[in-house]
Amino acid sequence: MTDPSAALTLWRDARLATMQPGSAWGWIEDGALLVHDGLLRWVGPARELPAAWAAQAITEHSLGNAVVTPGLVDCHSHLVYGGHRAHEFELRLAGASYEQIARAGGGIQSTVAATRNTDEAALYAAALPRARALMAEGVTTLEIKSGYGLSAEHEARCLRVARRLGCDLPLTVRCTSLAAHALPPEFAGRPDAYIDAACAWLPGLVEQGLVDAVDAFCDHIAFTPDQTRRMFDTARALGLPVKLHAEQLSNQHGAALAAGYQALSCDHLEHLDDAGIQAMAAAGTVAVLLPGAFYFLRETRLPPIAALREAGVPIAIATDHNPGSSPGLSLLLMLNMACTLMRLTPEEALRGATQHAARALGLGASHGQLEAGLAADFVAWDVDHPRELAYWFGRNPCRRIVRAGVDTTAFNTAFTTAFTPDTLP
Ligand code: NIG
Ligand code: FE
Repeated sequence: MTDPSAALTLWRDARLATMQPGSAWGWIEDGALLVHDGLLRWVGPARELPAAWAAQAITEHSLGNAVVTPGLVDCHSHLVYGGHRAHEFELRLAGASYEQIARAGGGIQSTVAATRNTDEAALYAAALPRARALMAEGVTTLEIKSGYGLSAEHEARCLRVARRLGCDLPLTVRCTSLAAHALPPEFAGRPDAYIDAACAWLPGLVEQGLVDAVDAFCDHIAFTPDQTRRMFDTARALGLPVKLHAEQLSNQHGAALAAGYQALSCDHLEHLDDAGIQAMAAAGTVAVLLPGAFYFLRETRLPPIAALREAGVPIAIATDHNPGSSPGLSLLLMLNMACTLMRLTPEEALRGATQHAARALGLGASHGQLEAGLAADFVAWDVDHPRELAYWFGRNPCRRIVRAGVDTTAFNTAFTTAFTPDTLP
């Protein structure tokens, strides 16, 4: 309950794309937002603002009739890692496949080696500008997976870096344990023993407050459905929600398996079949599409988008930022690619980076829409219509960012304008 004597902040002159379901964009032409204590207390047409609330609003800001959306949610990233894989990019351009490189010990393994050789401060220093690049485009909530440490010590280190980013930055960070990402070299030929070990160290990570969800990579170059199930059983025993890298390179029926655990999301899904779609629909599992990886790996097989739509599976969009399959740091570009490459509508794409992305993180009741009671995370954009967020690429129309009720624009633009002519040597 709002303390009636407490000050409220009124943000007016906004053209609101609330992304509430039920109408196109959840549109409110002349809208206002009332904020108190980091939360939205009232959202609606300015003329309907209750007089009692208006009288309490001691601070007022105009949003200059900008289009205002919920803060963007990037619900799938692997942001913390050492090194990069530009050389593998060259190998792939010369004809090697992602799988061939992975099987030859490159791929995820090379990033695991680089990550283990990078200390915590350096991992943080590398991840920080990546997070800030995403934030400069209006990302206010970010999921960060582990999965390049692959030992208790190194996984904890990566998750601590992720947690610290969430403490240091005006950003909500959700930490996902992805120990079942690849087989580390010390367990070569012994995947079941590795899964045993990863299951055994999970409670310790949870105790340290480092894990919000558990993910796995179920594919023929990664872990089997049975190994995935064991990871999920451990997560369930600890009360953690699960997610899955499912049906990316082959159909392992991972989506149906994950849906059986009420997974928050299944991600990638290029090889998803009808049974998987129906299972996801029944469980309310979100389909997270990753156009960056689809593009960068030059995939040709699209996820079954029409069938997902028809089954009513909520569709989210994310960057999948990682050094191997998606080294991109623009969620707006992903909106464009979701439309051009995957034929989503601009509205579906934006719902995919707000309402449905929040749901893919288990934050559907607190983030991803402009609605009373939810987080006061919103972005004012220099566009005439929200469809332009999926239209422009290579342009950042972000004008103002408010996160948990606090205007963080200066912080974020300080990052994007760090290299102005004045600061160049
Ligand atoms: O989501 N598919 C598995 N994991 C990552 C890629 C990791 C890597 O290549 O380093 C992904 O695409
Ligand atoms: Fe991924």
